[in-house]
Amino acid sequence: MILVTGASGTVGRPLVELLVAAGLKVRAVARNPAGLPRIVEVVDKPVLEGVTGLFANPRAIGADLVGAAKEHGVRRVVALSAANVDDDLDRQPSRWRGDRNREVERAVTASGLDWVALRPWTFAANSFGLWAEQIRRGDEVRGSYAKATWSPIHERDIAEVAVRAFLDDNLLGMRPVLTGPESLTQEQMVRTIGDAIGRELNYVEAPPDLARQAMVAQGLPAEFAARLLAMQARSVGVPAPVTNEVRRILGRPALTFARWAADNAYVFGERP
Ligand SMILES: NC(=O)c1ccc[n+]([C@@H]2O[C@H](COP(=O)([O-])OP(=O)(O)OC[C@H]3O[C@@H](n4cnc5c(N)ncnc54)[C@H](OP(=O)(O)O)[C@@H]3O)[C@@H](O)[C@H]2O)c1
Repeated sequence: MILVTGASGTVGRPLVELLVAAGLKVRAVARNPAGLPRIVEVVDKPVLEGVTGLFANPRAIGADLVGAAKEHGVRRVVALSAANVDDDLDRQPSRWRGDRNREVERAVTASGLDWVALRPWTFAANSFGLWAEQIRRGDEVRGSYAKATWSPIHERDIAEVAVRAFLDDNLLGMRPVLTGPESLTQEQMVRTIGDAIGRELNYVEAPPDLARQAMVAQGLPAEFAARLLAMQARSVGVPAPVTNEVRRILGRPALTFARWAADNAYVFGERP
């Protein structure tokens, strides 16, 4: 039995589906389980009895669950971490959303259990929060730093790698850095979403302070917004890192952002 924490989230949903498809028993931790496969046992907080494998999502759990997992006989932990986990804490914006990637990864790697720590760069799905609402309203998208770069990864690739981490032994003790297949500017990403929905979207660069205010108005912490914008500013003119790890592990190229945009076109909507 695999316990998936953060099961209703970006990585958790495709992971649950893929684990079920691989014939594994899954217990999903989710307070909002709508849409999870009916075959899955759903709990609203981690229940470790009978669990042999744990997927640890640091947005949903703390490092203490890893110690408890060992006491309950869990044998393998796959941690969702992040590519920037060893950076100065000030350069990890997600800490200001409460994520404790470093603490959970360290607990996992020191646990004495079999472990794999997945270190993705930017999720393609961040595009929802950044631009979806504006795109649904019209063709002009106001955002920060048009030339800031990301190498966005499709959540399906992260989930497929996680399944391999549970099923195969050759990733044990590794911290693969996972990226999409190419570096794209924010302007290019928005244009790609436009192609997927059949509209010509125009990215209009807004002053960083306006972009920060917009993020705060969306409910994001001001400290998070400030650090995310600083990260974007540092990336202007610098290609985002691209690794070969998805191809190495899955034996196929990482999915493109164009594919992600096509898969999610329904979220961005049709012509207003
Ligand atoms: N976004 C990126 O670019 C990126 C890149 C690298 C690493 N990461 C890391 O990936 C992790 C996030 O993964 P994700 O995007 O799959 O997560 P997510 O979709 O934001 O959330 C996963 C689930 O966790 C539950 N959850 C959220 N906040 C919680 C809280 N405070 N307490 C308990 N449960 C909570 C929610 O489920 P319920 O409400 O149903 O319980 C949510 O659906 C973070 O550690 C982040 O730093 C993100």
